Amino acid sequence: MSRLGWILVVLVLLLGAAGLHTYYRLYRVAPVQQFESAEDHFLYGSVGTEERRGVPYWIWLVLPRIFPEYLPAPGGYASIGIIARDGHEMPIGLSKVEIGVPRVGVNCAFCHTAMVRARPSDVPMVYPGAPAHQAGAQEYLRFLVAAASDARFTADTILGEIARNVKLSWPDQLLYRFVLIPDTRRALRRLADETAGSLPAWGRGRADLVGRARFTLLDQPAGASHGAADAMPLWHLQRRNGHGYQWDGSNPSLEEVVRSAAVIEGASTAWMDRDFAVWDRSDARQPSSLRRVFDYLSDLQPPKYPFPVDVALAATGAATYAATCAQCHEPNGGRAGTAIPIGELGTDRTRTDAWTAGDAEAFNSFAGTHAWKFERFRKPAPGYVAPRLDGVWLNAPYLHNGSVPTLGDLLEAPGDRPARFWRGYDVYDQVRVGFVGDGAEARRLGTLFDVTQPGNAATGHIYGTTLPAEEKRALVEYLKTR
Ligand code: HEC
Ligand code: HEC
Repeated sequence: MSRLGWILVVLVLLLGAAGLHTYYRLYRVAPVQQFESAEDHFLYGSVGTEERRGVPYWIWLVLPRIFPEYLPAPGGYASIGIIARDGHEMPIGLSKVEIGVPRVGVNCAFCHTAMVRARPSDVPMVYPGAPAHQAGAQEYLRFLVAAASDARFTADTILGEIARNVKLSWPDQLLYRFVLIPDTRRALRRLADETAGSLPAWGRGRADLVGRARFTLLDQPAGASHGAADAMPLWHLQRRNGHGYQWDGSNPSLEEVVRSAAVIEGASTAWMDRDFAVWDRSDARQPSSLRRVFDYLSDLQPPKYPFPVDVALAATGAATYAATCAQCHEPNGGRAGTAIPIGELGTDRTRTDAWTAGDAEAFNSFAGTHAWKFERFRKPAPGYVAPRLDGVWLNAPYLHNGSVPTLGDLLEAPGDRPARFWRGYDVYDQVRVGFVGDGAEARRLGTLFDVTQPGNAATGHIYGTTLPAEEKRALVEYLKTR
């Protein structure tokens, strides 16, 4: 062969190797890490969001060091209520999956795992399945968008910072410089539109899934969506199958609610297809990730109130509960499981109005020809379903919009409930029963909740508000035991 021929062969081989490397580093899906326990799978496992919305791990890791000014306090992601636990590489609620390079996505635990402390000096207790009152889902998004929109989001800055953690191979460095960093920057900046129309700010522990669904799944602009709502507890959900899930009861099928949650968070339809193919096969080498989550949540038990309870006082509260509250809140109560009309209930109607018949229809036709389907989304009459009160001590702040900080406040007439408080601080108020909502630390670490903002009214649900003070005290004591 001529010299030119040899040079060509070598060139082709080199290009092939580079191409293969690029392919391998960009698209190859490595087997997903399988967590042994169902709880760890829920806390750290993947629900398919890394492919479309994942941030390359090394970039994700160094962003808080480069842009601390876009986080509310020192401490990195922990400052927006993302829980790190010893012995785990990733914090709770964030999964890491290799798609070419390791990428970080959000999972269900991000909004469905709570942190509680008795005193500021304590190590937090962690409650998987409880609403993540401390988590800043919108702040997380906004942090990523702000970082990506900053002129310092460059290959030089980011690679320099990554070098403090790891020595990337030179082909990987090229890949980060010319592909991953610019791509991530573009992808994150696109997310700016996602919550732009969602008003007011969600604050800690809330998310606007209506607006988010329109944006990620139905490809409509989120528009002026006012669907912000408190994350919900996920206790023994299977028992309620057939009634209405979500605050407004917009879908009675647990399987559809779990699956749609993954899609809303950004799982791609291709991932959903793969996951659904093994839904019934727990023996598969990669069993269905969502099925594991579904099984885990189906019968998850609410944890007991961890602080002292006055048992005698609670016993007298039980009678008041049976007489005043049980008809709506007990599964065998006459009004359980279906939405209480908003006119009668009087709580803020913004969230129930945000979800429309058109949204339900769009969801129901979304899956098209896929083997998995959404068929049971619906638009119930405006109102909210009375949630079961098992583990209610962990549901604070209360009501669908999280507008009432404590049980004590919920039993006050609406005009006497706090007009402003801070959400997200995890120290527990054992007297009022809820999280401490004011004071220097709550203000420093939490987000302000203002009941005069649209969607935030703390009106309505006047049940029990006219009881004598002593009966209220007993009722609150009883609710601790639920
Ligand atoms: C960004 C925060 C967030 C994430 C992530 C999230 N959820 Fe939720 N979840 C919510 C909010 C907020 C609601 C209440 C929605 C409403 O009615 O407006 C909710 C409601 C639910 C409900 C209804 C509970 C009931 O009692 O009716 C279920 C079930 C649920 N989520 C499961 C999941 C699963 C499974 C995942 C992961 C695939 C997930 N969620 C991820 C915020 C989140
Ligand atoms: C007529 C039906 C009805 C009665 C009676 C009733 N509730 Fe409710 N309750 C609801 C509904 C509906 C909601 C959800 C309202 C919302 O979020 O806007 C709710 C919400 C709550 C919440 C908030 C739960 C959470 O996760 O944030 C608590 C706590 C509560 N009720 C306690 C009580 C107590 C205590 C009584 C008795 C004094 C009572 N309720 C009586 C219908 C009722």
